[in-house]
Order: sequence, then structure tokens, then C-alpha cells
Amino acid sequence: MLLSELYLEKYRNYQVAQLEFENGLNFLVGNNAQGKTNLLEAIFYLCHLSSPRTGEDSDLVLFGCDEACIRGTVKRQIGEYELKVRIPVKGRKKAEVDGFLQTKMSDFQGYLNCVYFSPDDLKLVKGGPSERRRFMDLELSQVNPYYRHALSQYNKVLQQRNNLLKEMRIDLDLLDVFNEQLVETGTVVIERRRNMLLRLNLLAKLLQRKLTELKENLSLEYLPSFEIENDVKEDFRKALEKSYEDERQRGYTLIGPHRDDFSMLIDDLDVRVFGSQGQQRTVVLALKLAELEFLRGEAGEYPVLLLDDVFSEIDDIRRRKLFDIVRQNNVQTFISTANPRDLEDIVGDQRKVFEICEGKVGVR
Ligand SMILES: Nc1ncnc2c1ncn2[C@@H]1O[C@H](COP(=O)(O)OP(=O)(O)OP(=O)(O)O)[C@@H](O)[C@H]1O
Ligand SMILES: [Mg+2]
Repeated sequence: MLLSELYLEKYRNYQVAQLEFENGLNFLVGNNAQGKTNLLEAIFYLCHLSSPRTGEDSDLVLFGCDEACIRGTVKRQIGEYELKVRIPVKGRKKAEVDGFLQTKMSDFQGYLNCVYFSPDDLKLVKGGPSERRRFMDLELSQVNPYYRHALSQYNKVLQQRNNLLKEMRIDLDLLDVFNEQLVETGTVVIERRRNMLLRLNLLAKLLQRKLTELKENLSLEYLPSFEIENDVKEDFRKALEKSYEDERQRGYTLIGPHRDDFSMLIDDLDVRVFGSQGQQRTVVLALKLAELEFLRGEAGEYPVLLLDDVFSEIDDIRRRKLFDIVRQNNVQTFISTANPRDLEDIVGDQRKVFEICEGKVGVR
């Protein structure tokens, strides 16, 4: 897929900007604090309707203005779409596809897919389980409407169930209803995540070998919060029954996909505990590239790849391998860097260089 155009208005430090992108490599070059990450964030926003770095949409509106606008043209094998989001400082955002207002925000997702990779992603390895759950949810949500729906229903019922568990007297009939809904929606979430992890495991294993000259064996495994013997639904139900007393005391739900995780092992050793900095970085890169392949499998075409300042993170050999992979597969890639030297050894016709300076864009 291809993001051919991007238009920004009163967004972050951009008054107005219009960019036309190439199919291959698109470099965003500029000094620190000029708007490179802001631009990648806008592309991410068109994909997820959320920012990778803030939970507050109002942060995206140019200081002193009422509303930001991000618009993009996406070319896919099945057609061309115009995506538009308006983000007011106060009130709800509005998302349109080809001029039609989307009543449900989740209907907007899926037109543009992306993989975003920034130095912050090291927290995928170093951080807690919530980072890895977020990773799984973002990936599955962008290609699977059924998953999006199940996850949002699960989170709703989880909240209701937690509120109920905190009450002095529990309405057991209501608890039964919540339990059933939790199991139904939670099972969808767990099964999809487990399947994804099976695929990611194979892909990341291959990629880690490629990135380390066949030296390292990476394996990933989904870690559910209760033991799954055969039937997820049945096992979930049983585990809920067993944990009821505990949950009653603590006042919240102790098992379910909101407590799940996945492990990352290199030659059977936990990368989080035993991996060197370099190994941890390579694992993140392998995971991101595996994500690229996974999304291609699901969506039928490659997502766009957003690389935010990652050159400082990876050595020359791995950088070259990364470029080989995106070139061979013709993945539209956006690369931000503050160091123009990063471009020197990258030659080829399919590349475009944008100079970003104080929220203004020039084409070199
Ligand atoms: N809502 C906003 N309105 C106006 N300016 C903003 C807003 N949000 C952020 N900025 C400004 O945008 C500037 C650029 O941010 P950005 O993160 O894109 O820089 P960058 O080019 O990626 O820099 P670096 O190379 O250091 O990563 C910052 O100086 C910040 O103050
Ligand atoms: Mg930046």
C-alpha cells in the first residue's frame, strides 16, 4: 500500500503542509525539534486514530488553535481512499473516508496499515507486559475488525465486572452475566493473539537469524494468565471460578487477556533478563520486521513502515539488512533522521528527501 499524499493543518508545529511521497524511501531530514517525529506521528494517527506518544488528542493541535486536520491519500490494490481526521481541542474528533463521516471510529481503521519503529520501542523488550499487550492489540486491531470489536467489548465488561467486585454485596446473577461476556469476548482476544504469536514466532525466528548471520535463535511464546489445556473458553470459565475468592478480596479481575504477556527467548534464555543491549535492540528490529510480514499476510499487501530516528539504534550491517528487506519487498518507508550523513550510502532512484525546518517542508 502507498500513502501518496499527506496534508496537515494546524497540526503540532505545522501551520499548513502538503507532501507528496514516493513509493520507495522517503527521508525526513532536519535538526532536532523541527517536526520530523510529528510528521510520522500524523501518519500513525491516520492508521490508528491515536498517537504513539500521547494519550491526549488535544496535544496534536497547534498551540493557540481550535482544531487540527490530518488528511492522507492511500493507494491500495483494491482502490484509492481519502482519509481525513479533524481533531478539536475540545470535543470529539471526526473521521471521514472519501468524504463520508464514520459514526464508529473503529470503521476508520484498516484503510491504512503501518509499522512504527522508534528508539522508544526498546520498551517492548525491557518494559512490563502491558507494552507487549499494546503491541499485540495495535497489530491485530489494524487488520481485524472482529478483534477490535471483541477487545473493546472485553474492556467494557472487565470494567463493569471490576466495579461489581468492589461492591459490599455482590449480585451473583449479574456476576454470572459478566462472567459469560468476559469469557466470550476474552476467548476471541486470546485465540487471535495466540495465533498471531505462532506466526510471529516463525517470522521473527527467521529474521533474527538473518540479522545475526545465523547466530541467534529467537523464539516467542504467548503466555496466558491461566493454564490452557485444550479449550480456551472452558479453561477460562474454570479459572474464573477458581479465582473468585481472591478477586473478591482484591476487588478486581485477576485473570484474562488483560493480564497476558509473551516471552522472548534467545537460545532458551530470556532476552529481557539475559540479553545484551545489542541483542535486545536486534530483537526489537526482528519483531518489527516480523510485524511487517504479519500485516502483509493479513491485509494482502505491505503496510507502510515508519522509522523514527532508529539509525542511532542499529549498526551499519543491520541497517543495510533492513534496507535490503524493505527494498526487495518494495515497502514504502518513511525515515526520520537529524544526521544527513545517514543518507550518504543509500543510493537508488526510488527515494525522496524532505527537509523539515520549524514545521515547514522543503523537497531537496
Ligand atoms: N501542539 C503543538 N503546537 C506547536 N508546536 C508543538 C506542538 N506539539 C509539539 N510541538 C513542537 O514540535 C517540535 C518538534 O517536535 P518533533 O518531535 O517532531 O521534533 P523532531 O524533528 O522529531 O526532533 P528530534 O530530532 O529531536 O527527534 C517541538 O519543539 C515541540 O515543541
Ligand atoms: Mg524526533
